[in-house]
Amino acid sequence: MKNGLKGKVALVTGSSRGIGKAIAMALADCGCDIIMNYQHSKEATVKTKAEIEKKKVKCTAYQADVSKTDEANDMVAEILKSHGGVDILVNNAGINRDRSFLKMTREMWDEVLGVNLNGPFNITHGLLPHMAEKGWGRVINISSMGGQTGNFGQANYSVTKGGLIALTMTLAREFARKGITVNAVAPGYTSTDMTQGIPEAVSKQITNMIPMGRMGEPSEIANAVTFLASPGASYITGQVIGVNGGMYM
Ligand SMILES: NC(=O)c1ccc[n+]([C@@H]2O[C@H](COP(=O)([O-])OP(=O)(O)OC[C@H]3O[C@@H](n4cnc5c(N)ncnc54)[C@H](OP(=O)(O)O)[C@@H]3O)[C@@H](O)[C@H]2O)c1
Repeated sequence: MKNGLKGKVALVTGSSRGIGKAIAMALADCGCDIIMNYQHSKEATVKTKAEIEKKKVKCTAYQADVSKTDEANDMVAEILKSHGGVDILVNNAGINRDRSFLKMTREMWDEVLGVNLNGPFNITHGLLPHMAEKGWGRVINISSMGGQTGNFGQANYSVTKGGLIALTMTLAREFARKGITVNAVAPGYTSTDMTQGIPEAVSKQITNMIPMGRMGEPSEIANAVTFLASPGASYITGQVIGVNGGMYM
């Protein structure tokens, strides 16, 4: 099994579809047992779980809104009971509610901060102590190029993704001596439901600005995650790997 990850337990938040699904599938390909999480997409989750189980690894799925402290805590408690903790945590669940700043409502601001920042707080806070006890762990936060550059119409989203990078560096410092690495992957434009809504003309403009001339595929983001999770990345912590076709360098 490639990457030396066979038998590790990995939680991927927001893994019903899109990038999270690709990450869960790629970690399963490395022999990890997978814990999926989703909010609404039960049908997609059941399908993904079946695809993962075909890879001869175990897969469990939990419905929980990561932004809600009680739901996140319940999920963490269940995971501790069933698995005793996780070896790899991928904070992937995320949403966008785009609008230019003056048109952005406080609700849009709060909703995005709730999922994209409070979510990782809730889940990571609950699981890190058990990783530290074991003396080995990987935390990988799915940030965004928007967190590195800012983006028109995405004040809320960019703030959360920049915040995740700051959280990554802080936790990397706090947990380096406990055998835990903490890194971020910052995707550029990637073909998922999140980018489906971009009007075709705008999508063309964006593609023209990407040196590689195309959007990324979820599996290309997942490849960076499996690398960071692997023993081969043992001396990498507090870093942000951009997977963006060269759009930001
Ligand atoms: N696509 C891009 O171009 C791009 C670029 C940079 C960064 N990213 C980041 O990559 C991550 C995945 O994005 P994506 O494009 O794959 O998005 P997506 O296709 O919209 O999928 C989002 C996933 O997050 C889950 N989710 C949303 N809110 C949740 C909540 N409150 N609690 C638990 N799960 C929740 C969804 O679950 P349900 O299916 O149950 O709703 C779904 O599995 C996000 O953090 C996003 O910000 C994406």
